[in-house]
Amino acid sequence: MNFKTPFYVIHKNELDDNYKKLTSALEKHWNNYIIGYSYKTNALPWIIKHFDSLGCYAETVSEDEYELAKLVGVTKNKIIYNGPIKTKESFLEAVQNECIVNIDSQREIDWLDEVKEEKKSIGIRINFDIEKMCPGQSQCPNEGGRFGFCYENGELGKAIKQIREKKVNISGIHLHTSSKTRSLDIYRAIANVACKVKEEFSLDLDYVDIGGGFFGGLSTKPQFEEYISIMEDILSKSFDKKKTKLIIEPGMAVIGAPISYVTSVIDVKDTEFNRFVVTDGTRTSIDPLMTKSSYFYSLIIDGERIVHPKQIISGYTCMEHDRLFEGNNMPTLCIGDKIVYDKVGAYTMCLTPLFIKYFPDVYLENNGEYQLVRKAWKPEQYVMNSMIED
Ligand SMILES: Cc1ncc(COP(=O)(O)O)c(C=O)c1O
Repeated sequence: MNFKTPFYVIHKNELDDNYKKLTSALEKHWNNYIIGYSYKTNALPWIIKHFDSLGCYAETVSEDEYELAKLVGVTKNKIIYNGPIKTKESFLEAVQNECIVNIDSQREIDWLDEVKEEKKSIGIRINFDIEKMCPGQSQCPNEGGRFGFCYENGELGKAIKQIREKKVNISGIHLHTSSKTRSLDIYRAIANVACKVKEEFSLDLDYVDIGGGFFGGLSTKPQFEEYISIMEDILSKSFDKKKTKLIIEPGMAVIGAPISYVTSVIDVKDTEFNRFVVTDGTRTSIDPLMTKSSYFYSLIIDGERIVHPKQIISGYTCMEHDRLFEGNNMPTLCIGDKIVYDKVGAYTMCLTPLFIKYFPDVYLENNGEYQLVRKAWKPEQYVMNSMIED
């Protein structure tokens, strides 16, 4: 692993083993399913192509992601198209191509008038009060979520009525809900809402799309088996497994754990207050939103080292808060030592800013063999689409 740092590494066996656990849980508990890999979580081209080869659909939420799926060769009807910023052109094409399209807002209902008669089938995203069912666990406790049509205030009912008046078949419901906890309670609540909505509006559904938001690849957190079996218990009261597909859209659960970020110590300096260990990595590459309080890390160092009471491990950017962690009573670090951060595959590469340095190399590790799957961006790539001359 003596490559030029910093770089990310995708651990293929870990990725595939974890994914197998997911498919096994689905086969056991709802053997009529679709897994839509969430592009937004990490759309590195090798990754999206790999999930395609494993049989996943592409879960996309913008025209760019929708076009990206087509560009990497995803079969045209194996795309799930969600979210509020679809363009009219890509929306109409996706419906026409029989993609799984989940309507998020009124303008998309209006666009349905322009879909050719025989192809009219869509899903609808439901906005519901998850906080009421799982107190303290939702992301927006006081304000509620902003996606889809609100069940509680009657907007969902109005949307269903309008869609039916247009003689469009509602083939699915979409209930993705991001939570703070990713707990089993959340999925119990989502499944209950799916049953309630189906019964109340007499929907005859080809699919229930639960969305993503699961944990995966972490032994101390809920397992796929638990999530799916809980949903099976509830959904099977209102849905026939043979008729209605369960769609899930994992991102973090399948790509979070199997990616590491490898950095090197480039300098060590003492100030009046601290010892700073400067590295060629940055916090923005493993925690771009700077919301995490700790990271999974390990050290690669040679020889015996005395312990140092306090070292501040810092990133390369010129932002003062680019400090990754405080090492207390840790071996004294020296130039050339490596620090490896694990489980950094979700919402990192796709959110890393082009700040000071550009995108780093990405390697694929397969049984100890390494293969470059993205070459680092250089200034040439940075200027790629810019007009430099007047
Ligand atoms: C509609 C939808 N599906 C799937 C996901 C993936 O979620 P996660 O990466 O937490 O599994 C998200 C994340 O926001 C989402 O909005």
